[in-house]
Amino acid sequence: TRVFVSKDMASVALGADDVAEAFARAGCEVVRTGSYGLFAIEPLAEVETAEGRVAYGPIGPEDVAAVLDGSHPARIGAIADHPFFSNQQRFTFARCGVTDPLSLADYAAHGGWKGLEAAHALPPQAVVDAVKASGLRGRGGAGFPTGIKWQTVLDAAADEKFIICNADEGDSGTFADRMLMEGDPYCLIEGMAIAGHAVGASHGYIYIRSEYPFAIEAMRAAIRRAAGRIAPFTLEVRVGAGSYVCGEETALLESIEGLRGEVRAKPPLPAIEGLWGRPTVINNVLSLAAVPFILSEGAQAYANVGFGHSRGTIPVQIAGNVKYGGLHEIGFGVTLGELVHQIGGGTASGRPVRAVQVGGPLGAYFPPAMFHLPFDYEAFAAAGGLIGHAGITVFDDTADMARLARFAMEFCAAESCGKCTPCRIGSTRGVELIDRIVSKAPRAAGAAETLPQLRNARTAARTHEEEIELLRDLCETMKHGSLCALGGFAPYPVLSALDHFPEDFGGAETLTE
Ligand code: NAI
Ligand code: SF4
Repeated sequence: TRVFVSKDMASVALGADDVAEAFARAGCEVVRTGSYGLFAIEPLAEVETAEGRVAYGPIGPEDVAAVLDGSHPARIGAIADHPFFSNQQRFTFARCGVTDPLSLADYAAHGGWKGLEAAHALPPQAVVDAVKASGLRGRGGAGFPTGIKWQTVLDAAADEKFIICNADEGDSGTFADRMLMEGDPYCLIEGMAIAGHAVGASHGYIYIRSEYPFAIEAMRAAIRRAAGRIAPFTLEVRVGAGSYVCGEETALLESIEGLRGEVRAKPPLPAIEGLWGRPTVINNVLSLAAVPFILSEGAQAYANVGFGHSRGTIPVQIAGNVKYGGLHEIGFGVTLGELVHQIGGGTASGRPVRAVQVGGPLGAYFPPAMFHLPFDYEAFAAAGGLIGHAGITVFDDTADMARLARFAMEFCAAESCGKCTPCRIGSTRGVELIDRIVSKAPRAAGAAETLPQLRNARTAARTHEEEIELLRDLCETMKHGSLCALGGFAPYPVLSALDHFPEDFGGAETLTE
């Protein structure tokens, strides 16, 4: 009997290796796949039958016999019929969970390389035009039109150009890049080879964070196997060293060049002067992995799905205090409330949802009153937030929003590259300010001498309102004065927490009263 068990890092963390071994001991042929992306049903096993694959999960090694005789109560049936998957539109993640990630035969049998073949039959400009027509925007977070970025690189005259895949997925609660690299590495390779043909680049780098050992191994093995297929285009993996800011594109360039991971001022844009001064496409994993579909199925097929100026699908990563955490690829326009309640199933704790952070540690917190917001770059920006890399983290009513706001400043202080003052110094002042604000709150009111933060009479005399005004002022300075998104976006969680959850920052009592 053939049985499919995921070897994705998250599935392995939940015990998939033991399950796979138990099936092998029972005499089954075990195929290790990527993950479908619903962690509540992992470890998951699919048994091949005459009616197709039948899924069971979550299961342990002790369940093997009952799964094989079909009597196990954790029977799911066909994965595609499961409510978490039935309304997904899997353009990018179509093969993830289905195929053996390193099998070239499997990849080709499931539509692989069709996009690259279509691209090779076209002149570079036509490939760039197709990506433009698809409406694809940068999935790393900024949402810049991918086709326009490629056009800039195509138009830049140079003896050498590069394609860089940014796989330094640093946002908390996000895992889509990792899942794709582990579950369907050839898809990313195909997307990069198409980009190389489109802009005239012959070499590419995949910059992967060191925290992703499985993805690094999968990509390296896949590059070796696919070398003949993508030639003369060549690829290599570069591994980060634990710095969040190296996900910022110019710091990433410094890192690949062997320098300290500090942000470069823009302009010049990397598209004009990037790696070693050469025109460089830098795209996120998900942007590049969306390209094979666009070339093989047509730009229109991609553009037909979506909402407003956000076209195509977005792999939303649902995490935090939620019942059904996982990856949900769906057309833009799904509302935040649908994602949290219908798809995510509400909180794991069973308590009411208090807030959802969208877009990683630097994303805004949204209260349930804003759950009507459609997933769309413009709608989120207008509401004082960002979609970012499409990670959403759910919190229940025990969350302390002032503490979470403080964490944003603390995170920024820890990860700051130190190049500009608003971020380097502002983030530390932000932590101190929030500490003073919550200390002055009525519920924690005390004598001034018990507060170590009060270093001088001036801060001691400031009222609660004045401190909050100062915090808002600091946030504005960081937003507009920082060189990159780290310092520029750290104010988002702080301001949204202040706006939507002012009660957590205490009342108007002053210490001098
Ligand atoms: P940005 O708005 O400065 O640039 C977006 C992209 O467009 C860059 O690649 C830039 O070089 C390019 N670009 C702009 N104008 C261009 C032109 N005329 N021609 C060609 N290319 C052009 O944004 P940035 O600073 O690169 O990214 C910020 C975003 O990163 C945030 O929205 C945030 O959500 C996201 N982010 C993602 C993380 C992750 O783990 N994926 C972590 C932290 C932040
Ligand atoms: Fe460096 Fe922070 Fe300035 Fe970005 S905002 S350049 S991380 S100091």
